[in-house]
Formats: sequence, C-alpha cells, structure tokens
Amino acid sequence: QDMAAFIAAMPKAEYHVHLEGTLEAEMKFALAERNGVKLPYADVAAMKRSYVFHDLPTFLKVYYEGMNVLLTERDFYDLCYAYLAKAHSQNVLYAEMFFDPQQHIDRGVPIAAVIGGITRARADAEAKLGIGSQLILCFMRDLTADNAMAALDAALPYKDKLVGVGLDSDEKDNPPTKFAAHFAKARAAGLKVTAHCDVNQKDTLEHLREALVDIAVDRIDHGGNILQSPELIGIAKTKDMAFTVCPSFSGKVVVDGQPVEVVRGMLDQGLKVSINSDDPAYMGSSYITEAMIEAQVRSRLTKAELVRISHNALDTAWLTPERKAGYL
Ligand code: ADE
Ligand code: ZN
Repeated sequence: QDMAAFIAAMPKAEYHVHLEGTLEAEMKFALAERNGVKLPYADVAAMKRSYVFHDLPTFLKVYYEGMNVLLTERDFYDLCYAYLAKAHSQNVLYAEMFFDPQQHIDRGVPIAAVIGGITRARADAEAKLGIGSQLILCFMRDLTADNAMAALDAALPYKDKLVGVGLDSDEKDNPPTKFAAHFAKARAAGLKVTAHCDVNQKDTLEHLREALVDIAVDRIDHGGNILQSPELIGIAKTKDMAFTVCPSFSGKVVVDGQPVEVVRGMLDQGLKVSINSDDPAYMGSSYITEAMIEAQVRSRLTKAELVRISHNALDTAWLTPERKAGYL
C-alpha cells in the first residue's frame, strides 16, 4: 500500500505508449456517435468483454479495428489530449508517444489531420497542464516496405512535429532490416530511431542483433530476450542502450532454463530499463502507474530500484541535456 502510494507520487516519464492504444472504449463510442460509425458492440461493457488476447496477432486485430472511429483532426486531438491529461494525473512530466500513420492513411484519413490533431493536443497539454511530449512515427512492419516508405514520405513535410521513427505491429518474419532504407532516410532527416523487439517472438535474438548492430537504433522497445545473450547484453551496455519495457506485454523469458522477469533481469544485468504502459486502453486501463505497480510486485522492486528506473527514464528522453535537466 505504502509502495503503491510511493509509485503513484513518483515523477515519471513514458516512452512506450501507442496513442491508438490509449483509445478507451468510452471514447470509441463517443467518436463513433460523432462520426456516424457503426460499432459491432451494444455497449462499452460488451466491447470491453471482446478485449481477450492470446498473442500479438489477436491483439493487433482488435487494436486496428478500434481505429476505425478516428477520422478527423479533432478525433486525433481528443485522443492525444485525453492520454496526456491521464498521464499528467499520474505525475508523468514528459512522454514520447507512438502513432501508426499507415493504418490511418490506408483508411483515407489525411496525414495532415493525424499529425495536426496530435500536435495541437501536445501544445494545449503543455500550456494547460505543463506536460511535455514528443511524437514517434511507427512503421507497421507487417505491411510492405513500399507502404511504409509512402507513409514516411507523406510525413516528412511534418518532420519538425516528429522526434523519431519506430517499428511496430507483427514481428513474425518482419525483421528490422526490412526497413533499413526507411531508417536511413529518417535519420538523414534528423530523426531518432527505435524498434520493437517483442518478447518471445520467432527469431527475436536475430532481430535484436539487427536492431543493435545493423540499424544501430537509438533505443529498443521491449527487448526482453536480450537476457538470453551475454554477447548482445555486452553490445547494448557498450552503447548505453535504453530498453522501454511494458509489463502488460512482457511475460518472463527463460534464461539458462530459469524463467526470469524482464525488468528484474535487466536491472540485475545493469541495463538501462524503463517501465511503460504500451496499450493501456486494451489492458484494463493499466496506465504507467499501474504498470509500475505490476512490475514492482512481479520483479520485487525496491524503492531504490524504482528511483533508478525513474532516472533511467528521464535519461532516455530524446531531448537536449538542458531540457532533460529541466525535468530532473
Ligand atoms: N502496436 C501496438 N501495440 C503493439 C505491441 N505491443 N507490439 C507491437 N505492435 C504494437
Ligand atoms: Zn509497443
């Protein structure tokens, strides 16, 4: 109880949250009504009962279907402002948020409405609540390389509204190097680079190696299987690589025959780990405070370790040292 209050009061930073994964069922119904979209559920409770996932693909199906209510600039404003207000209420000082433009472009929503609404919400949340934020464009790795490149080209005129690019969606048979040209182009435009290396996927260690060595990412999202490779741990530590771990999606990984909690294992290896919420609206409204409480219990984190994780998180920010210092 004391621990939960301690976690709730801690100043926080969040780096692994998909904006579309913060679309709560209540907002989905409100937007569906506003936009005249028919939903296949009678009410919020019925919709929430459909949020049952066995693996990444079954989650992603529900997650992408949920986006159909997001159509206008105002919708993206409302989505982003609601997340930032919720994060602020949990003492998040600063957030870097993902979005999936390909899914919106492919539904006919102009990229200007997507980035425009999110950017306006970020500015309002900073002015009214004091919460800082930046935006990361994710490539959907299970769509074609051409589809991702078209989205990048559509977004580059707005590159001053972005801080980086990432890689998400279904990892199976979609290695980071499939997007080598995209990452290179984004980097040339001054953007940072991160990639999901989801936990316990096919070829996870090879994907981690590609991300760390071939793409030379600036950060890794999830990445728990690195605990199975002393060689990759060494490379990550040399690079001072940050890992954005989400307890809601990271089960244990098996290291030398023993199941290990990802947060516990990374801390014990001296890796720079932060705790994040990922897709809170689909995980029983588990935002960052709930995610940290879950991680505390599962990994038996001490207060000193929680403080270290909090410092890691601020240090993970894609901000100038001066702006980082302002949050410490
Ligand atoms: N897109 C949204 N959430 C995701 C996750 N946890 N893994 C991969 N892609 C995602
Ligand atoms: Zn994610």
